[in-house]
Amino acid sequence: MKLLSRPATRGLSGTIRPPGDKSISHRAAILGGLADGRTRIDGFLLADDTLATLQAMQSLGADIQRSDDQVEIIGQTLQAPRMDINLGNSGTGLRLLTGAICGHPDLFGQRLRLVGDESLSGRPMGRIIEPLQRMGASITSNEQRAPLLVEPKPLTGCTHALKIASAQVKSAILLAGLQAQGITRVNEPGISRDHTERMLPDFGIRVQHHSDAVELTGPQQLQHSVVHVPADLSSAAFLLAAALLVPGSDIRLQAVGMNPSRDGFLRIVKGMIADDRLQLQPTAESDGREPMADLQARYADRRTGTTIAPELVPLAIDEFPLLMAMAATASGQTVISGAAELRVKESDRLAVMCRQLQTLGVELEERPDGAVVTGGPIRGGAVDAAGDHRIAMSLAVLGQVAQAPVEIDRAEWIRTSYPQFVEHMNQLGANMAWVD
Ligand code: S3P
Repeated sequence: MKLLSRPATRGLSGTIRPPGDKSISHRAAILGGLADGRTRIDGFLLADDTLATLQAMQSLGADIQRSDDQVEIIGQTLQAPRMDINLGNSGTGLRLLTGAICGHPDLFGQRLRLVGDESLSGRPMGRIIEPLQRMGASITSNEQRAPLLVEPKPLTGCTHALKIASAQVKSAILLAGLQAQGITRVNEPGISRDHTERMLPDFGIRVQHHSDAVELTGPQQLQHSVVHVPADLSSAAFLLAAALLVPGSDIRLQAVGMNPSRDGFLRIVKGMIADDRLQLQPTAESDGREPMADLQARYADRRTGTTIAPELVPLAIDEFPLLMAMAATASGQTVISGAAELRVKESDRLAVMCRQLQTLGVELEERPDGAVVTGGPIRGGAVDAAGDHRIAMSLAVLGQVAQAPVEIDRAEWIRTSYPQFVEHMNQLGANMAWVD
């Protein structure tokens, strides 16, 4: 489906609570399904990706009840479903679930097939298969890609030194470690999001933290818990960017997750605008584990390009399509490096985003691990989101400040993470519509 984003005719204003955090919702669904007793999740993200994970847990035997965004899960003895487990578009769902089941004693002697859509079936899975196999897992793949055939077996803990900072890989290993005999340790070359290790203690799991590593000793059984899911900073970022770009805007976003391993976008954007344009305020809601804040964003008339430090890349990994869009409207150049991981997300985000920005008249240079984007006027035109939700939303934001409408093809994938995106944008005063 096509999304038409027409230049905004007035500043954006109002207050929105963006949807629940995607990463935290996936983890809560998986841990709740593995735990003994009744787990309650408040603020669960109701989007294709996280609903696929919830459904996967149900197909494995968990008893699940849902009323709007409140979910109750009662873990049961796991059983292998007769059908494939379909994780749709979700790399997080597929990778974390593979880790969780590959050594689960309830499933010994059974075979499970995990599949995904075309995009997910093209993404690299060797990064989880290799470490899980070192622990004793039996996983057969299609040349290191999905479908994955898992035959759960007893595992042994070991130390893993990751080559890339990846929360998905770290989490898959830790979830496998829950069932493994002995110590499972993950050393990371940089910081990646730490939601798994923050959430595990709430489910009664003892986790040791070291300066560059996290470890746990298995086997350990999860106990039921209550999870409050903050609003997703990665979704909030689109509204926030639109407010910074559209003249006269002043918006407030409520209860947004502020986990320091996720806030790279805010840190980078603060280097592009005057301080007072983006402010954090204490939120009425709070949770012991995951920090949150209300965010106020106002039109930033002066936005300048920046050089993004490679250490910040994992902390803002999902926000790069949006950062590239913002860079295209800033004065001067923005330099992105150390971001080759963007090439193996829901699409090759560097290549796709560079091509679409060029179509809109943006001057840039694509590099193997990044890009140099030169800001200037944004022409309108027809672009293609290549079935990538974050690219679709980034281009839609850009359409609000383009010289003419921006029509975005293959944008319906927005539903994988933020089904209410268009509704929320229009509620704030933006000008977007779905067209056939
Ligand atoms: C995620 C981790 C990130 C991110 C993805 C969600 C997670 O991937 O891009 O959208 O929930 O663990 P990597 O850990 O592979 O960088």
